[in-house]
Parts: sequence; structure tokens; C-alpha cells
Amino acid sequence: MRIQKDNILIRTATVDDAVQLNKWWNDGRVMEHAGFPYGLGESLEDTIENIKKSDEFNQLCIIEIDGKAVGELSYKIRGDTAYPGCKICDFDYQNKGYGTKIILMLFEFLFTDETINSKCRIERIAWDTMLENKRAQHVYENKIRARRVGVRKDCWKDQTGRLRTAVDYEIRREDFMSDKN
Ligand SMILES: CC(C)(COP(=O)(O)OP(=O)(O)OC[C@H]1O[C@@H](n2cnc3c(N)ncnc32)[C@H](O)[C@@H]1OP(=O)(O)O)[C@@H](O)C(=O)NCCC(=O)NCCS
Repeated sequence: MRIQKDNILIRTATVDDAVQLNKWWNDGRVMEHAGFPYGLGESLEDTIENIKKSDEFNQLCIIEIDGKAVGELSYKIRGDTAYPGCKICDFDYQNKGYGTKIILMLFEFLFTDETINSKCRIERIAWDTMLENKRAQHVYENKIRARRVGVRKDCWKDQTGRLRTAVDYEIRREDFMSDKN
């Protein structure tokens, strides 16, 4: 996939992105928000394999701003629901309004892309974040107007062995489309 708005480009990752992705995924500062403060410890070969697994319903993408790779996003589609994840990995590009724009670009794509929606119409987008990630929750609740649908207490043990709580979000097609108009 490839979508562009102003200076933001979201495009399918290729094996040429493997070194950059591997660097981000193995960096504990970048991965801390996901519960991996020591990084994933993934080999370059495994990253290449992960990139190759992408298909229409399971995408791994690079986020570029002004031609520079600054982060990654992914989504998978199961039935009528898309499950995305988004990460601005370059700290210099966080807190500048890009995350909100990127998420809205992705959601619009997921709800309107003809290739995807002719095969399975997306009715809902669902994702979660860690309870400690207050910035992400602020963006989801106040900037993209997603619905906070639940909290799963101590549902997952992170890399340090600490139990973590997840907050679940969703946005439905009718709500997203009516907000847009
Ligand atoms: C979460 C993320 C996508 C948000 O994108 P971003 O470009 O940094 O965010 P924006 O600049 O669009 O908006 C940030 C908002 O959060 C607010 N904010 C910043 N830090 C905050 C905090 N600790 N608590 C609450 N709100 C906070 C900002 O003030 C701003 O809101 P405002 O415009 O109303 O003032 C991005 O920071 C990111 O990728 N972070 C690392 C990975 C991650 O957390 N991914 C999502 C979780 S699964």
C-alpha cells in the first residue's frame, strides 16, 4: 500500500527497510511503550522474514516524513475488523501532530480502500495500548475520537516480568465517516 498526504508517506515495507526496522525493534527506548524495554532481540534474518510475510490483509509499513523513515505501522484484517499498530520511532518526530495525522490517514484508507473493502468490508478498527501510555490515550480519546471500550487489568507479563494492563479502543465505520463529514 502507498498513501500520501502533504509531507507524510505511508508505504509497504520492503527488504531494503530491514536494517532500519531491525534497529528500531531492538532498541529498548523505542520498544518500551510495547513492554519490551530491552528491545526484541530479533535477528536481521527474522526481520527480513517478517517483512516478507506482508500481504493484502497483513501489512507492515514504513512512515516517511519529508522523505525520511521515522516510524512504522502495521495492520491485519480479520473478518470485518482491522487491527492496527503505529509507532513514530524517531523521537524528534513525536509530539508534533504527525501521529494524529498518520492514524487518521490509515483509518481513512482502511475504511475506503476499494481492494480491501470489496473483499471484506471493514466495519470496525480495534487496537489497544498500555495503561501507562497516557499520550497515546490522549490522542485516541481527544484527537481521533475513538471509543475506549475496556480495560484488561494485568492481562500480560512484559519483558521484565511485570504484569501490565491494556486499554482497548475501537472506532466504527459510521462514527469515523460521520465525524469526517
Ligand atoms: C502515540 C503516538 C502515535 C502519538 O503521535 P504524536 O505525533 O507523538 O502525537 P501528536 O503530536 O499528534 O499528539 C500528542 C498529544 O498528546 C499530548 N501529550 C503528550 N504527552 C502526553 C502525556 N504524557 N500525557 C497526556 N497527553 C500527552 C500532547 O499535548 C498532544 O495533545 P494536544 O495536541 O491536545 O496538546 C506517537 O507518540 C508514538 O508513536 N509514540 C511511540 C509509540 C506508541 O506509543 N505507540 C502507540 C501505542 S500502541
